[in-house]
Amino acid sequence: MKSRLTRRRVLSASSAFVAAGSLASCMPKTATNNARTDEPVKKDTAMPDPHISTQPLVIAHRGAPGYLPEHTAKGYDLAIRMGADYIEPDLVFTKDGHLIVRHDHYLSTTTNVADHPEFADRKTVKDGHEGEDWFSEDFTLAEIKTLRARQAFETRSHTADDKFDILTFTEVITLAHARISLQGSQIGIYPETKLPSYFAALGYDFESALLEELSRVGWGQPGSPVFIQSFEDGILRSLRSKTELPLIMLLESADGVDMQDIATYADGIGPSKALLANKDGSSTGFIEAAHAQGLKVHPWTFRSDMLPDVFANAQAEFDFFFDLGVDGVFTDFANDARASLLARAARSG
Ligand code: G3P
Ligand code: CA
Repeated sequence: MKSRLTRRRVLSASSAFVAAGSLASCMPKTATNNARTDEPVKKDTAMPDPHISTQPLVIAHRGAPGYLPEHTAKGYDLAIRMGADYIEPDLVFTKDGHLIVRHDHYLSTTTNVADHPEFADRKTVKDGHEGEDWFSEDFTLAEIKTLRARQAFETRSHTADDKFDILTFTEVITLAHARISLQGSQIGIYPETKLPSYFAALGYDFESALLEELSRVGWGQPGSPVFIQSFEDGILRSLRSKTELPLIMLLESADGVDMQDIATYADGIGPSKALLANKDGSSTGFIEAAHAQGLKVHPWTFRSDMLPDVFANAQAEFDFFFDLGVDGVFTDFANDARASLLARAARSG
């Protein structure tokens, strides 16, 4: 399985934008969730384990990028307040070996780096990336901290551009560790190791950096609210002998997939949602085959403003995939996933 060095093309919206004003409708009035990231939360030792939730997990894909720039503290905070169970940090390295939270190691599409003349001479060409750009591994953490985040999608709101700083993995763990979900569970994290082979070739040790960060807050043990994901099977196979935390194999294609083999090193699969259903709405058998091997299925990416034509609205799409049997969803709109689950619960009494 090859690493992906290029970001998937930024898509244009194919359906109506879901207004932020709809968020409140899915939030139970009795929720104990605190709304600010700087407020300490009294931990409930009897808190349910999100791993054994009987409902599909709502995984806040890059925070709340439907509304705010991705991978920002405000975005993660909003996603938690909208009903996420897990927040998803994508991880890359800085020059001085810090894990920071960015979907890509190139920085032009999600930061204001191009507006920093002091970094003009860092713009360069790298193997695996089309054209010139600025890259995380050429910046120290102190330099990264002078940048501000931007909305990646042209069709989404840019009113919060250039307001929020770039987070370290440490900061995201700290943020999650202090928070409880609307459902009363510890907020979990779902880190993705981006380009592990690429960074290994540059001398970075992804596995140690990742596991050390998790252990620092006591989240290195089985039962911790953590899933580790990657598009590269190599790092997951290696991690299997180093951690009992659940590992998720990301898949963009079903070609040559061997579920039995994946089950030897992973606990679940994160497939493109396109792999799960045929055009007539029937199952492709992917979910059933994964479940037969004891693998969870957490598909991506559910975007309420870019719905496939067959769905009238976001609820219809979530309902379809929940009915199909997924165990969780990566979504840019955690509010819509939570609203769908609440509506289903209400229907079933
Ligand atoms: O990580 C699962 C999902 O996020 C797909 O990958 O990072 O390209 O959005 P990504
Ligand atoms: Ca990801």
